[in-house]
Amino acid sequence: MAKEKGVKSIEDLPGIGPTSAQKLITAGYDTLDKVAAALAGELSDTTGISVEVAKKAIEGAKQATTLEFQTGTEAYETTKALGKISTGSKSFDDLIGGGVEVKAITEAYGRFASGKSQIGFTLTVNAQLPISKGGLDGAVLFIDTEGTFSPERIESIAKAADLDPKKVLENIFLVRAQTTEQQILTAERADKLIKEKNIKLIVVDSLTSLFRAEFLGRGTLNERQQKLNAHIHKLQMLADTHNIAVYITNQVMDNPGILFGDPTTPIGGNILAHAAKTRLYMRKGKEDKRIVRLVDSPSMPEGEAVIKITTDGIRD
Ligand SMILES: Nc1ncnc2c1ncn2[C@@H]1O[C@H](COP(=O)(O)OP(=O)(O)O)[C@@H](O)[C@H]1O
Ligand SMILES: [Mg+2]
Repeated sequence: MAKEKGVKSIEDLPGIGPTSAQKLITAGYDTLDKVAAALAGELSDTTGISVEVAKKAIEGAKQATTLEFQTGTEAYETTKALGKISTGSKSFDDLIGGGVEVKAITEAYGRFASGKSQIGFTLTVNAQLPISKGGLDGAVLFIDTEGTFSPERIESIAKAADLDPKKVLENIFLVRAQTTEQQILTAERADKLIKEKNIKLIVVDSLTSLFRAEFLGRGTLNERQQKLNAHIHKLQMLADTHNIAVYITNQVMDNPGILFGDPTTPIGGNILAHAAKTRLYMRKGKEDKRIVRLVDSPSMPEGEAVIKITTDGIRD
C-alpha cells in the first residue's frame, strides 16, 4: 500500500492542525490506525470537527497505514515466544495447553468456594516468575470486586514459589472496585499502568458480581449486557495490544430448567461465551479436591483435571 508522504502522526494528517489533533487524541483516536478505522460521522460527532475534514483525515490515515501480514508460522512463533503462566499443577497446565495464555481471556466459573479466587492468587504469584519457570516476569493488575483478595495467601504462595513475598506484593496493583463504574474505569485507564509497571496479567475477580447486583431487578438486562460487553471488549483489547493474560472469574446461577446433568450456568450469557477463549468450569470434588473442566477451547480437546488447593497454591 502506498504511503502518504510524511504522514507519521495525527498532526500530519491533511486538514488537521494542532487543535484538531488534540481533539482527536482526547477522544481516543490517538493512533493513525484508529483514525483509519473510524467513520467520518462518528469522528465528527465525538470531536466537533466537520464531516468533510474528518473524511479527508480518515483517507490520509488509511493511506499512511499499511496492512501488516504475518504468516501462520510467524504467528505460531510469536505466540510461543510470548509464554504462558503455569497454574502450579501439571495436569491443569496440560489440560489448557501448557498454562494460561497471553493475548486471551481465560474464564473460570463455578459455585462459591470452588477455587476460582485461589487460581487467581496462584496466577498472580506465578506471573511474576521468570519465563523459564513458568511465569511472564511481570507485574499484576488485580481488580477485586468482592473484597476477597488475600495478601496472606499471596505471601504463602510466593514463599512456596521461592519468591520474596514483599516483592511479590509490591508488584500487585490492587483495585478494590465497589461499583461497575469503578470496575469499568479501571480497565479503561489501564493502558498507562500496564506499560509503566510491566503488567503481564490482569485478574478480574469477579467479572460479573457487581453487574449482577447493580442491575438486579431492573426491567431489562439490555443495559447490563451492553456495559458488560464493552468492558469485556476493553479487556480483550488490553490483552491483544500489550501481549498480556487476562483471567476472570464468574459465578453460576442455578438453572432449574435443566433436569439432568449439572443445573448451573455461568452469568453473562452469550457475551462471555464468545469472549473467553478458554472457559473452565470448577467444581468441588471429594475432600479438598477440585475438578477443573475445560469447557471451551479453540485448540484443546474438552477434558478434566483434578487439582488441590494447598497452602502453597494450586497443585496436582
Ligand atoms: N491455605 C489454604 N489451604 C488449603 N485450602 C485453602 C486455603 N485457603 C483457601 N482454601 C480453600 O479454598 C476454598 C475457597 O476457594 P475460592 O477460590 O476462594 O472460592 P471461589 O470459587 O468462591 O472464589 C476454601 O473453601 C478452602 O477450602
Ligand atoms: Mg472468589
